Amino acid sequence: MFANKVVLVTGGSSGIGAATVEAFAKEGASVAFVGRNQAKLKDVESRCQQYGANVLAIRADVSKDEEAKTVVQQTVDKFGKLDVLVNNAGILRFASVLEPTLIQTYDETMNTNLRPVVLITSLAIPHLVATKGSIVNVSSILSTIVRIPGIMPYSMSKAAMDHFTKFAALELAPSGVRVNSVNPGPVLTDIASGSGFSPDLLEDTGAHTPLGKAAQSEEIANMIVYLASDKAKSVTGSCYIMDNGLALQ
Ligand SMILES: NC(=O)c1ccc[n+]([C@@H]2O[C@H](COP(=O)([O-])OP(=O)(O)OC[C@H]3O[C@@H](n4cnc5c(N)ncnc54)[C@H](OP(=O)(O)O)[C@@H]3O)[C@@H](O)[C@H]2O)c1
Repeated sequence: MFANKVVLVTGGSSGIGAATVEAFAKEGASVAFVGRNQAKLKDVESRCQQYGANVLAIRADVSKDEEAKTVVQQTVDKFGKLDVLVNNAGILRFASVLEPTLIQTYDETMNTNLRPVVLITSLAIPHLVATKGSIVNVSSILSTIVRIPGIMPYSMSKAAMDHFTKFAALELAPSGVRVNSVNPGPVLTDIASGSGFSPDLLEDTGAHTPLGKAAQSEEIANMIVYLASDKAKSVTGSCYIMDNGLALQ
């Protein structure tokens, strides 16, 4: 489905991003992917090479403008064009309004989850207009529900991301570029480790959804691939919920 297509995935070294890199690679795409952890980047690269995929692992910290600015150009230098951008890199940090460290955690969260999305997207747009490509942002069901104390900066970053998705979709539609997001509920990844939340946060939250489980990264990756594909050619400005029914409660 993606033969001769070029995909860039931020946060491709782990969890949802790593599954997304693999899913596009299996579909025949050339995939560039970004992360900071060299060992994890190498691991994803090796797995993709088993399918004979062309991949480019880019080591960069997207929270630093000077590093984030390079990733689109590195992708185009290697593969000649860009068809799909997946803005996936993200962190989760506990921060309560009652804590004096709130503003530091707010800045860290926004500088990772939101600012690079705007920066990298703006640099990718000329290339996506040239290919009539598409963008998929990885948001969260927490962009719309207020359920878990301490998750406010994260939720704010995803609420802003949903607005960014919709405005970008509106403004890029005349150029034939589609922009959507996937908004997962709990997915079993490493995001909660070191976050200040319980390491069991995702499993516990999943257990309390109507379907009684958390999702797997591959399920989210499959939706990202679908939204980026021609099968979704009439879908733009959509924030696609995959939350095991969490928001119904
Ligand atoms: N898991 C869930 O329950 C869930 C639910 C809804 C939405 N999401 C969203 O899904 C996305 C992926 O999260 P995940 O659950 O797959 O977590 P994860 O396994 O911790 O993966 C996060 C990815 O983001 C990358 N990353 C983080 N900070 C970065 C930085 N400054 N520069 C470059 N890369 C950075 C990490 O790479 P390095 O560590 O190599 O830098 C890693 O590849 C996030 O946007 C998250 O908000 C997750």
